[in-house]
Amino acid sequence: MQTIHFYCHLIWGVWCFLQVIAKDYVQLSHDGPVVLGGTITFRADVYRDGKRPKETFIYIWNDNSLMKHKYESKETSNTTTFWSINYPRESNIPGNYTVELEVKYLTYSIFWVFYTSARIEFEISESLNGNVAIKQVNKTIAGEYVSSTNETKLTIDLRKGDYNFIMQKATAILTYWFIDCKYYGQTNDFAFVYNFTSPGITYEVGALVIASYDPPTTTTMAPTTTIAPVNVTTVASNTTITNSNGTLVAVITLPITITSVKHLMKSTIALPINISTIEPANISLPYICSNTSLIPPDPKKTYGYFYKKIRVRAPVSNISVEGTNWIQPWDMLSLNVTCKGSGPFSKCLQFHRGKYNATGNETCDYVDLNLHSCNFSIIHYFLEPGVYTILIILNNEVSTQIYPLTINIYKVTTKPQLSVIVVPVSCSVVAVVLIVFGVAYYIQSRARFTIEVADFDFGQSNPEMEYKTFTERLRDSFNNTVRPGSKQLNVRYYGSMNH
Ligand SMILES: *[C@@H]1O[C@H](CO)[C@@H](O)[C@H](O)[C@H]1NC(C)=O
Ligand SMILES: *[C@@H]1O[C@H](CO)[C@@H](O)[C@H](O)[C@H]1NC(C)=O
Ligand SMILES: *[C@@H]1O[C@H](CO)[C@@H](O)[C@H](O)[C@H]1NC(C)=O
Ligand SMILES: *[C@@H]1O[C@H](CO)[C@@H](O)[C@H](O)[C@H]1NC(C)=O
Ligand SMILES: *[C@@H]1O[C@H](CO)[C@@H](O)[C@H](O)[C@H]1NC(C)=O
Ligand SMILES: *[C@@H]1O[C@H](CO)[C@@H](O)[C@H](O)[C@H]1NC(C)=O
Ligand SMILES: *[C@@H]1O[C@H](CO)[C@@H](O)[C@H](O)[C@H]1NC(C)=O
Ligand SMILES: *[C@@H]1O[C@H](CO)[C@@H](O)[C@H](O)[C@H]1NC(C)=O
Ligand SMILES: *[C@@H]1O[C@H](CO)[C@@H](O)[C@H](O)[C@H]1NC(C)=O
Ligand SMILES: *[C@@H]1O[C@H](CO)[C@@H](O)[C@H](O)[C@H]1NC(C)=O
Ligand SMILES: *[C@@H]1O[C@H](CO)[C@@H](O)[C@H](O)[C@H]1NC(C)=O
Ligand SMILES: *[C@@H]1O[C@H](CO)[C@@H](O)[C@H](O)[C@H]1NC(C)=O
Repeated sequence: MQTIHFYCHLIWGVWCFLQVIAKDYVQLSHDGPVVLGGTITFRADVYRDGKRPKETFIYIWNDNSLMKHKYESKETSNTTTFWSINYPRESNIPGNYTVELEVKYLTYSIFWVFYTSARIEFEISESLNGNVAIKQVNKTIAGEYVSSTNETKLTIDLRKGDYNFIMQKATAILTYWFIDCKYYGQTNDFAFVYNFTSPGITYEVGALVIASYDPPTTTTMAPTTTIAPVNVTTVASNTTITNSNGTLVAVITLPITITSVKHLMKSTIALPINISTIEPANISLPYICSNTSLIPPDPKKTYGYFYKKIRVRAPVSNISVEGTNWIQPWDMLSLNVTCKGSGPFSKCLQFHRGKYNATGNETCDYVDLNLHSCNFSIIHYFLEPGVYTILIILNNEVSTQIYPLTINIYKVTTKPQLSVIVVPVSCSVVAVVLIVFGVAYYIQSRARFTIEVADFDFGQSNPEMEYKTFTERLRDSFNNTVRPGSKQLNVRYYGSMNH
């Protein structure tokens, strides 16, 4: 009996222990905050020990809004589940609320047992949620730096749930654009194109989105109750706005003051207007520039206030390199590089053997950051002759420039030196001189020989001479010479004696 008791306790203890160890939890998230009237989506992810459990669940959602919504999902083995809930304008008020989720799982195929629960806060906001996105040359810019040489497209990037809500429900959506508190016109596509052309200047862009829900008939029949659209084709790409009967109209009661927006809408006289008579600079909506009052002037409309700082920078341009790129091995390569654009710059160099075609997305291991002026030198030694490419990669906050530089390192022998030319030339000159002298000497000595030979009298008969050739006579005279005691004799004497 005691042992059974013990085992029961042991099993219970182990089970309890496992329950504590096995951590069940649910992770909640949402895509809020949501504008009053919009839809928010909650997401739940169920885990056990970081893994997805294999059970059958039901999910019970609750919120603490005025309407106290409750939703119970169907049985599912899916451990990821969503709940989308709409907060209509009529029955809700802005504020911070809580959503609670209870997860139950099926045991023994009959009982639903509590598994885990969680809660999350969310906000129902008065105004539209989103931010200002910047694009240049079709590329979204992450920071706040824009290039002064390209057109800048500003768009209101609304939260998806808010966007869907106003696109479905609103009858008119207009965006009013301000740069440094000056009014630059309105658009109906959330976009505005502008050229920020002064480098070094910081601009404050403001945008006011107004979504109204008046039936379209009201607008046309009583134009004094609404802000009438204006033809602002000079400001943005597609902003031609006409009211429903096609007449171009514009607001002319300006400037607008902080407290009088509602009043303005009542008192506005809309009439066809020549756009060139509007001077945007004279129009101001103070409440977009001073955040003292963000109370919507008209509770029947939905507003959105958006700000963005824009810093204008001139892109890197006009890279110029001074110095020679044709050097010998061991000679120092010394180049001075300058460029134009807004600082600070970052610079890096890549060395490649041979010719190199830049792909445009080269990166560097070592980057020289925060150069205040674009003016630096490149000093390098190349040991081996050949062709090299130095890539100069220059960045600033708005641009990257890759500048390839070809360096030729030539061998000494490839360019023949003076001594190499001089030696053979002087040798041949000497040779030619020797030959000329030799030939001249030969001719001269031959001429002398011929003259002396002319002294021979071949005409006289000389019996000895008859049968003796020149060589025989030479040999004879040679023999006479070497013979001891004999008189010295040579060809010349011989000839003279014959005289
Ligand atoms: C779980 O639910 C999500 C969202 O509803 C769905 O995308 C996914 O395919 C489901 N997974 C399974 C295993 O049913
Ligand atoms: C909701 O809470 C956030 C902070 O979590 C706060 O900034 C915001 O003002 C609150 N909204 C309201 C309406 O109280
Ligand atoms: C930008 O994109 C639009 C459409 O997406 C295209 O028509 C236009 O040519 C593009 N402009 C540039 C400069 O790439
Ligand atoms: C953007 O600016 C660069 C000069 O920095 C220019 O070469 C290019 O053509 C511009 N692109 C557009 C679409 O204006
Ligand atoms: C911006 O400048 C470019 C070129 O100078 C011009 O074609 C374009 O129309 C300008 N855009 C605006 C909105 O002024
Ligand atoms: C169009 O509407 C305007 C007011 O919005 C009105 O003054 C004008 O007479 C209308 N024109 C036509 C042709 O209906
Ligand atoms: C301007 O926008 C309207 C709708 O907002 C569209 O029907 C029209 O085609 C657009 N025009 C141009 C030139 O993009
Ligand atoms: C607009 O006004 C200017 C002068 O203010 C005038 O020269 C021009 O002809 C007017 N345009 C139209 C379409 O009325
Ligand atoms: C309004 O814009 C359209 C098309 O962009 C143009 O044809 C019309 O002349 C403009 N109207 C005025 C009054 O400027
Ligand atoms: C580079 O600049 C330095 C001083 O800034 C100067 O002494 C040198 O001669 C310059 N070199 C070339 C090749 O211009
Ligand atoms: C670089 O490009 C040129 C022409 O675009 C091509 O002829 C050459 O072969 C390329 N060189 C390398 C190393 O890819
Ligand atoms: C950029 O680099 C990646 C990988 O480093 C390469 O796949 C891609 O083709 C390169 N892009 C260009 C334009 O060269």
